Amino acid sequence: MLNDFTFAFIKPNAVKNSNIGPILSMINKAGFRISAMKMIHLTISQAESFYAVHGEKPFFRDLVKFMSSGPVVAMILCCDNAVEEFRKLIGETDPARAGEGTIRKLFATSLQMNAVHGSDSNENAIKEAAFFFSEFERYYS
Ligand code: CMP
Repeated sequence: MLNDFTFAFIKPNAVKNSNIGPILSMINKAGFRISAMKMIHLTISQAESFYAVHGEKPFFRDLVKFMSSGPVVAMILCCDNAVEEFRKLIGETDPARAGEGTIRKLFATSLQMNAVHGSDSNENAIKEAAFFFSEFERYYS
């Protein structure tokens, strides 16, 4: 289904730890098709905009600092029921609570540096994909 996608990125800690390859391999093996992908180093103000919904949270400033500390690998991932399926693959936000074999269990270094982000709803997947990608950078399969 053309619209069945989610937005994801591999966070700076996983990029620095050379875990892009293993994470992409898990994503492909789980049946997702990558319909857009780019490596980008967010500015502080871009990280603030992306996580604006958490603006009042006590961890916001540290999160922004972390997310602008190095490049991320942003992706649009397609499969049936993509938002839910991807959240199953990555596990709980807190890696201490993530299931065995999930991406966060395997590659997160802390609650903040939890290796990957995945949209939490179809509405947010649309907004987040548009934050990173133009229509010309997306390939439907
Ligand atoms: P993510 O799925 O990208 O969505 C928001 C991010 O905020 C989350 O992953 C974590 O990186 C971070 N986060 C959420 N809760 C906390 C917390 N209690 N302390 C520090 N960072 C958090």
